[in-house]
Amino acid sequence: MSFSRPLTVVAVLCVLSPAVASPPVSAPTPPASVHPELWPAAAPKATDPASEAFVDQLLLHMSLEEKIGQMIQADIAAISPADLRTYKLGSILAGGNAAPGDNVRTTPQAWLDLTDEFYRASLAATNEAHPPIPILFGIDAVHGHAKVIGATIYPHNTGLGSAHDPELIRRIGEATAQEIATTGIDWTFAPTVAVARDVRWGRSFESYSESPGLVAEYAAAMVTGLQGPRGTPQFMSPGHTLSSVKHYLGDGGVVGGRDQGDTILPESELREVHSTGYTAAIDAGVLIVMASFNSWNGIKLHANHYLLTDILKGRLGFNGFVVGDWNAQEQIPGCTKYRCAAAILAGIDMLMAPDSWRQLYKNTLAQVRSGEIPESRIDDAVRRILRVKTIAGMFERPAPKQRSDAGDFAQLGSAAHRALAREAVRKSLVLLKNDHGTLPLNPHATILVAGDAADSIGWQTGGWTIDWQGDHNSNADFPGATSIFRGIQAAVAAAGGSAVLSKNGQFAQKPDAAVVVFGEEPYAEFEGDRENLEFSPNDKHDLELLRRLRIAGVPTVAIFLSGRPMWVNPEINASDAFVAAWLPGSEGEGVADVLFRGREHYDFTGRLAFSWPLTAMPARFDAAGKVSGVLFARGSGLDYRAAGVSPRLPENARIPPDWDAPPGSLYYARHVTAPWSIFVADEVAEVHLTTIRQASPGGAVVVASQPDGSAIQWAGTRSGVFMISGRASDMRPQTARGVALRVRYRIDRIPERTVKMGLRCAEPLCGTREGAMLEVTKVFKSARPGIWQSLSIPLSCFTAGGADLSQVAQPFAIETSGHFALTISEVSLIQPTLGDSHTCPGTI
Ligand code: BGC
Ligand code: BGC
Repeated sequence: MSFSRPLTVVAVLCVLSPAVASPPVSAPTPPASVHPELWPAAAPKATDPASEAFVDQLLLHMSLEEKIGQMIQADIAAISPADLRTYKLGSILAGGNAAPGDNVRTTPQAWLDLTDEFYRASLAATNEAHPPIPILFGIDAVHGHAKVIGATIYPHNTGLGSAHDPELIRRIGEATAQEIATTGIDWTFAPTVAVARDVRWGRSFESYSESPGLVAEYAAAMVTGLQGPRGTPQFMSPGHTLSSVKHYLGDGGVVGGRDQGDTILPESELREVHSTGYTAAIDAGVLIVMASFNSWNGIKLHANHYLLTDILKGRLGFNGFVVGDWNAQEQIPGCTKYRCAAAILAGIDMLMAPDSWRQLYKNTLAQVRSGEIPESRIDDAVRRILRVKTIAGMFERPAPKQRSDAGDFAQLGSAAHRALAREAVRKSLVLLKNDHGTLPLNPHATILVAGDAADSIGWQTGGWTIDWQGDHNSNADFPGATSIFRGIQAAVAAAGGSAVLSKNGQFAQKPDAAVVVFGEEPYAEFEGDRENLEFSPNDKHDLELLRRLRIAGVPTVAIFLSGRPMWVNPEINASDAFVAAWLPGSEGEGVADVLFRGREHYDFTGRLAFSWPLTAMPARFDAAGKVSGVLFARGSGLDYRAAGVSPRLPENARIPPDWDAPPGSLYYARHVTAPWSIFVADEVAEVHLTTIRQASPGGAVVVASQPDGSAIQWAGTRSGVFMISGRASDMRPQTARGVALRVRYRIDRIPERTVKMGLRCAEPLCGTREGAMLEVTKVFKSARPGIWQSLSIPLSCFTAGGADLSQVAQPFAIETSGHFALTISEVSLIQPTLGDSHTCPGTI
């Protein structure tokens, strides 16, 4: 037997021919209505017998334990290098909030030290029978190496789309890979190739465009930039990093823009709209695909054999590996995050099991031993993982600290990379209004710079920056970066003018012009989901600021920061010029470059990559791809050649009433109001409700969406349902105002045991022994089954026992341990009216 490794990575021309790959395991027959033959067929690919032979040899000598280990990825927050001696895992990741020493503001050196330690531990843990298998370290470097202090941060994808410049994207990929390599990290979970169609989706900022064509071009360019051009000596050479495309498939098509929800579409649309990024990326040599949290027509992607195995690995010829998303296996019926044969059988090769890896490893091992998962499926998965490690050159690369591209921290935020990011900012800006040639501004003038976001690098960088939500960052966290204000100040100072920062827009001396920077605050994933696209519906101080400046006769330029197009008609009307600046990243000077007349004068070249909505409801696409409800069409954008005055825009948001939830609703018209999510929980675990019918992991409670509401059925053991958001809310003001928690319900089966309902805090018991849950057993026992009724409980009832509602994480929770069934059609926080009871339930 020999373990001759393939000599050079160049010889290994990435994806291998389907003939070499092991056949998919005992495939369940795909549903009759699907059409695999209509998906693009893979082009024949170059094969590399040397690396295949190497992988074969490895497989022959690996124990089953080692194989299962390769299939599991843990988060650095929940695993130590020493654990790798016992559990020979294939990969680790640093999740959104994870960092060396649990300090997201740590040094680049600490990142390198940690990657080196994990790498060495993975090698030390090996079995004598075969060469050691290095671990892969993955991170979300989704707009530059943005978790690491001092890195260059590029505009988020939503802004890059406006540049319509694939070569720019390739250069960004290349520069990002160089910065990643300095810290010894092997793999980035990028690019996202979602085609966002309903921009109420909080992850729209991670999408390049609503256009499948642009997404495909960008996908190929980014993969090429990160990894190096496939089939050339640069491919995965030093300074390059493994790319993965996500989230397969249809994440941008979730109904209502509900993150992790259901994409309800015919196969043709799934294929033609949502899959283009994958075919382009596979062609460009991508070796890893991340599966999505969402469902397609009710079936979770992580359980979807047809899409993962028949289409992706079969028809599209993808011979790399499929990684699961963050504990997404737990959303599959019958699975928990600790145990899920269904995901592996469907085609997930590596499970992202951040905190659940240990039990998942043990359970998977047991399931293979019992025959529940055939060994052939394990061999196929491990072969794919090892193939990627081989092709990526992992077996030749030295330990992170010894790599020629690591430790050179001058690359992080280097002048060249910052110049590239600044260019990207310039190219991503879209000018939507420029009345009377307000722009370009005269740099010799006195400029007032106002707005909450004017001098906030945290604001302009958005989510997935330093930590997951990116909402705790101050300018001091971004050494070397420039806020939009500082960029303007530098441009104006250089020309002999002056720029004054005044957040609230107050001024002593009337300026020649004002630039107001405002917009959406940072968010990531479901925290950014919105019911409608009206910008800041409950707080109009930015609009008031614009109007004040207008009344004062100051020509005003609005710079709007957002992860997506929004309904901002009043703000557009109140400004003389309006610029959509998206989430521009660390190089705020890129904005000033375009705003001012000067020696190096740039014009606006950005054009919308998304339709800008006419009302607070997103633009709608019909099955033929025709879009309606649009104010500014995709491709629009002014430049300095355009003269004139824009028409005044209508200022009523015109939300169709059936889409609009009444104020205070938490749950209405069969859906939970953004940003809340519903979870079902029992003593085994809890799980996010993202499908029309979901059981808690231990099966103790089931929630089914019905035409009249959510039907909840308890099977007789302790379990419950609750609503949650990642950010706690202070509900003391509402409590003081007399607001009540109101539930509209119908009893379907009288409760057997005590039922508790109420609120829960970030600190579980809201600072008391009892918490803010109250017994409502009597109310439900005395209610007539089958009749709709309402229960309103003033929030003050929940605080009567001393509970403190300053940190409410769950505004609604209900639990019991006996049999019980009820249907809920509405949950809201309302100011009670006359008909509502004002008493606390205990006294009823
Ligand atoms: C996200 C992925 C991300 C992963 C690791 C998940 O929740 O959906 O996009 O790569 O976490 O942070
Ligand atoms: C992690 C992210 C992950 C998210 C998923 C966060 O705690 O840091 O990486 O994407 O959870 O829910």
